[in-house]
Amino acid sequence: MKTNSIKDILKVVAAKAALATIDHIGTGEKEAGDQAAVDAMRKAFDSAEIDAVVRVGEGEKDEAPMLYVGETLGTGKGESVDIAVDPVEGTRLMAEGLPNAITVIAATKRGRFWDSGSAYYMDKLVVGKEAKGAIDINKTAMENLHAVADKLGKSISDLGVYILDKPRHHDVIQEMKSNGVKVFAHKEGDVIGSILALIPDSEIDVLMGIGGAPEAVITAAAVRVLGGDMQGKLAPQKAEEEINLQNDGIDLDRVYGLDDLVLSDWAVFAAAGVTSGPLLTGVTRDATGQLNTECITIGPECGVIEKSTYAG
Ligand code: FBP
Repeated sequence: MKTNSIKDILKVVAAKAALATIDHIGTGEKEAGDQAAVDAMRKAFDSAEIDAVVRVGEGEKDEAPMLYVGETLGTGKGESVDIAVDPVEGTRLMAEGLPNAITVIAATKRGRFWDSGSAYYMDKLVVGKEAKGAIDINKTAMENLHAVADKLGKSISDLGVYILDKPRHHDVIQEMKSNGVKVFAHKEGDVIGSILALIPDSEIDVLMGIGGAPEAVITAAAVRVLGGDMQGKLAPQKAEEEINLQNDGIDLDRVYGLDDLVLSDWAVFAAAGVTSGPLLTGVTRDATGQLNTECITIGPECGVIEKSTYAG
């Protein structure tokens, strides 16, 4: 696989989508901003020498604008890859001008992404490579955190956990806080929380809790390439979702490991900042009117996060 060219293509696609959101940041226009990013991604792919198929999109859960599962992207002439994509991860953050909205896209070899199908939500645990082997999603939150702390040689009160600030997590957030864990509860954005957990010198050691199933697949691409660890279990949040999963004969007790979510060592991940946060600077317009965003790419060869700026 020509990894560098694929990394460059995904970076440009993510960056152009981020720039396209500029007029929607802080306006409350969730749908319009998402649509602008979707349109920009499609257009950026039009001239890209790649033969890409969308395998995991994100719009079904929220009936949001989306790139459709099965949609082909690119000129069809370059490398053949499958795509998992979220044109704006954290649409509400974008709409409300809050930190941490990003555009994100991941690729792997054909047929190697888990098909999230009728699953909308997944319970997730993500840690960096220093804590690999310490997590077990069938154990309690505190059991996992003690195991991670032991592995990292830290005390429980030195551990940082990123979790979505949703009613479904309020009990576990309370439990963690009363045990002295540093809890970073964010309204949206568990992909960025996972990436932070993969970075050794960030304040986050663990991403925990229920978020989107498509986002789990996108995240898993980065986790694989950076050598971290991840487990997930389906966690339907709506009656309709549970019925669909039952009808599809899906085992809700199944534990999904990294190898189940991305079935290849070869994966590429790219993200660009929409609004600024600890990982990425969001879209800015300079005095000449030029738009800039900050991007990260993670690819299989180097196993490190590469940062760059994109101007458009
Ligand atoms: P989108 O903005 O792309 O919808 O995702 C934001 C997000 O917070 C994800 O990071 C997370 O996985 C998911 O939504 C959780 O969904 P919900 O807000 O429905 O609990």
